[in-house]
Amino acid sequence: MSQTIPPARILITGGAGFIGSNLIDRFLELGHEVVCLDDLSTGYEHNISHHYEDPKFEFIKGDIRDLETCKRAIEDCDYVCHQAALGSVPRSIADPANTNSVNIDGFLNVLIAARDRKIKRFVYACSSSTYGDSKKLPKVEEEIGRPLSPYAVTKYVNELYADVFAKSYGMQCVGLRYFNVFGKRQDPNGVYAAVIPLWVKKLINHASPVINGDGSHSRDFTYIENVVQANEKALFTPSKEISERRKEYYNTGLDKHKYLMQSEHGSDGDKAGDEIISEIFNIALGGNTTLLQLFDTLRDSLAQFDPAIAVIQPRFGPLRVGDIPHSQASILKAETILGYRPGYDAKEGLTRAAKWYHQSLSELPSQASPELEMSKNLQLK
Ligand SMILES: NC(=O)c1ccc[n+]([C@@H]2O[C@H](COP(=O)([O-])OP(=O)(O)OC[C@H]3O[C@@H](n4cnc5c(N)ncnc54)[C@H](O)[C@@H]3O)[C@@H](O)[C@H]2O)c1
Repeated sequence: MSQTIPPARILITGGAGFIGSNLIDRFLELGHEVVCLDDLSTGYEHNISHHYEDPKFEFIKGDIRDLETCKRAIEDCDYVCHQAALGSVPRSIADPANTNSVNIDGFLNVLIAARDRKIKRFVYACSSSTYGDSKKLPKVEEEIGRPLSPYAVTKYVNELYADVFAKSYGMQCVGLRYFNVFGKRQDPNGVYAAVIPLWVKKLINHASPVINGDGSHSRDFTYIENVVQANEKALFTPSKEISERRKEYYNTGLDKHKYLMQSEHGSDGDKAGDEIISEIFNIALGGNTTLLQLFDTLRDSLAQFDPAIAVIQPRFGPLRVGDIPHSQASILKAETILGYRPGYDAKEGLTRAAKWYHQSLSELPSQASPELEMSKNLQLK
């Protein structure tokens, strides 16, 4: 698919962060122009500085909470890939107002700028946290529960806004519900570091990671390259293919008008396509890895570089309030409609990630606190 896409100009918000910077690498590699809008609040210049000499790359340091900044960044862009947000469930519990302001007000600004620019497609990061207290497994896009954190509320509101904008203004909006993404450039530092980079850092420093609970809880850990592929497909799969495959997935044309309507707002053909699109896809591996399996795989991978790591045992801590025991996605919708095919299983991804961390961790700035791991979590992200 990628070879047939004419070069485009893509705005990637949050491009200095973990997922966004991997997207930038890929889209530049494909020959596209990329504009990165990021305020560097949780991202880093060292994630993108290797592109500074590339004439196809532009970095705008700015805040998505400023509408004019969003409009300036989106000028001349064909597509938007919106990743900027304040991640982390514990952060949102500690400071719900700030999470709300970035994740909802900021999101709305980017969406408004995308609407005004008549962007071809608006792809945005949403989250498995939207499944909230639903116990159903695997998670299917239509069946969500009640949110368990302010972060989850913001990510669900994003979906509602995108849906309303698609229908009200004739846009193409595709939300990708990521499930616990990991890999190259995920930040191991700071009090809100995610479980995998945190444990890797502990192991490399010959310290014992803390497992909350007995280690039987599981998540659908998703390697970054799978997420990059999903974004590419979400941006560039032609709308007619999405429309046709959607019917195949739902096996009915009856609800067509609920989600996929002919635009009343007159797309100009050059910009938004002929059809409105408002879709949500789970983006995951479609598997489950327990915390104990995660620990074993990380330890075995890192022990190849440092045999002393092989004898490290985990410590066990209390379960966290609000943690659900298991999360696993159905990825059938993304497979059927987008042709998404995760190329890396959890073990292969973890092995690659461990190798990357081992090679680069010593070069990253360290800001970790000694008690960092006690505040870590296995929250749905
Ligand atoms: N990593 C995961 O497992 C996961 C899971 C589900 C959803 N997500 C979502 O994916 C997206 C990317 O997550 P990530 O893991 O790469 O996080 P990240 O923190 O590494 O990246 C987020 C980026 O957004 C930037 N940003 C934050 N506030 C901003 C603002 N006001 N203006 C401009 N830029 C701002 C940060 O500086 C950072 O570079 C987020 O929307 C997140 O909610 C991530």
